[in-house]
Amino acid sequence: MKINITIHEYNNISQLTAEEQILIRAALDAADHSYSPYSGFSVGAAVLLENKKIITGTNQENAAYPDGLCAERVALFYANSSFPDVPVSCLAVAAKTVSGITDEPVTPCGSCRQALIETENRFSKPLRIIMMGKNKIQSVDSISDLLPLSFDSSYLPKKNL
Ligand code: THU
Repeated sequence: MKINITIHEYNNISQLTAEEQILIRAALDAADHSYSPYSGFSVGAAVLLENKKIITGTNQENAAYPDGLCAERVALFYANSSFPDVPVSCLAVAAKTVSGITDEPVTPCGSCRQALIETENRFSKPLRIIMMGKNKIQSVDSISDLLPLSFDSSYLPKKNL
């Protein structure tokens, strides 16, 4: 079996649409509000909803390390909580360290990919991901491109809820 995925690459933010540029800037601005005293890795995520609203989130760390949460899931869960019936169209993610924006694009961790794919499935609409770095910007047209063979509800026993 062969799995084909397409990753779009850009070397300048101006190559993206105006809407995408706004989303990336929102993620970059959000990163300044990250609570990341333990890693020094400040991540910002911005979610674009189908109703054109933008919701941002940042990583939230904890002295008990595993209790923190990534920026993507903070933004996504807030969006899904505030607008439970509105599909999520796109998520942009960016990170800053003491040296500024990371050179390479940040990609969502495995747990965030799983949470994002749940949202994509829930609304049956592709969820685009834009990953921002200083030297390069990458995007995928669906989170399924970042998580092939993902687990979903079709594997669960049928229940009468
Ligand atoms: N982090 C994110 O918020 N998003 C990612 O895509 C990668 C990792 C956070 C988790 C932790 O607070 C810090 O970055 C270092 O792993």
